[in-house]
Amino acid sequence: MKIGIPREIKAQEGRVALLPRHIKTLIEAGHTVYLEKDAGLLSAASNEDYVTAGAILVDTAAELFEQATLIVKVKEILEPEFALLRADHIIFTNIHAALDAEQLDALLTAKCLAISAENTHKFGSPNCPLAGEVGAFEAIRMTMAQNGGTGRHFMSHFGEPAAKAVVIGLGNVGQGSLRTLVPFGIRTVALDIYEGARKSIAMQYHNAPVTVGDVSELEDHIYDADMIINCVLWPKHRKDHLIPRSMLKKLKRGACIVDVSCDTAGAIETSRATSWADPEYTVDGIRHFVVDNIPGSVPVTASAGYGEAILPKILAIADKGAEQAIREDEWLAKGLTCIGGELILEEAGIYQNKPFTPLCDWVKRSV
Ligand SMILES: NC(=O)c1ccc[n+]([C@@H]2O[C@H](COP(=O)([O-])OP(=O)(O)OC[C@H]3O[C@@H](n4cnc5c(N)ncnc54)[C@H](O)[C@@H]3O)[C@@H](O)[C@H]2O)c1
Repeated sequence: MKIGIPREIKAQEGRVALLPRHIKTLIEAGHTVYLEKDAGLLSAASNEDYVTAGAILVDTAAELFEQATLIVKVKEILEPEFALLRADHIIFTNIHAALDAEQLDALLTAKCLAISAENTHKFGSPNCPLAGEVGAFEAIRMTMAQNGGTGRHFMSHFGEPAAKAVVIGLGNVGQGSLRTLVPFGIRTVALDIYEGARKSIAMQYHNAPVTVGDVSELEDHIYDADMIINCVLWPKHRKDHLIPRSMLKKLKRGACIVDVSCDTAGAIETSRATSWADPEYTVDGIRHFVVDNIPGSVPVTASAGYGEAILPKILAIADKGAEQAIREDEWLAKGLTCIGGELILEEAGIYQNKPFTPLCDWVKRSV
């Protein structure tokens, strides 16, 4: 199969879908790999590295989409790429279709087969731990006085306790946040709705300043926090919020919210996605950091993890064709977003009030 790796065009996005060591495997399996020139530069992979691994360099995205059938990306398809889509394209990237009607319409109109990479990871996306780790690092930075924060040090000295963080959601992202916060000695309250997640964190951090609790205890902890880090997996269609706007005025002056989950008016009512170019905004005196591509700040590491995670799936699609690969792998199937203009991804259908074909019906029909 002809596989294309475009250069990511989202602002401040340095990740690339596959590194030279990953494409070597595809080429050895008999596939052809095209790379848009300079796509790997910010991930420490030069054009020469790709050529040595066997890739064919092309100068523009237009040329790449023209040559390749399977397009493998990191971030969503953006407006300049819409016109390049064709019905015979297989698109594999992090689409986040529920919240992006314009992109979903472009994929449906093009009638291509699109797979949301973020739904295909059996053990969680490799981006998630990095997002939690870097997100917590940003929260610490925002706590400093020159950045408008509370001015409490992240370490305890001279009788002053260390800064206090509340982390909500203890999955892949939340655990990443704890990995950044706890070694500094930050007083951390870790909340989750799921007992298993709470127990696991309590065992892991039994000798650290970590208080573990149910999310129902949020109000017991939030009002004296210096930083609040949201890492909850929030159903996109939920209309309620864990932190409604009315709560903001009760937070400590200078406190910040880092919403790694990044759901527009989701668990945090006042959240809307931002970018690394302009990462923060303030509502009712509370600074919000809601960057939707946090791992883009550590592209060298993030590309290594992403490429490793997706390579077996890309190889299966290239070897067997997308439809057969989807039928054989339930996790790949969970990512099926649309095919031939038909919407399959339930979450996007519900959230955008669009008709969709349930995945199991599509699978039965396609056999
Ligand atoms: N901003 C970024 O760059 C970025 C990068 C990666 C992931 N994310 C987002 O981070 C979010 C979390 O991802 P993850 O991989 O950690 O998910 P996960 O499924 O591993 O963990 C989510 C956790 O939230 C908990 N949870 C669910 N509902 C809750 C509630 N009402 N109250 C408290 N806890 C609740 C779950 O029990 C689980 O422990 C996702 O929305 C993901 O898209 C953002």
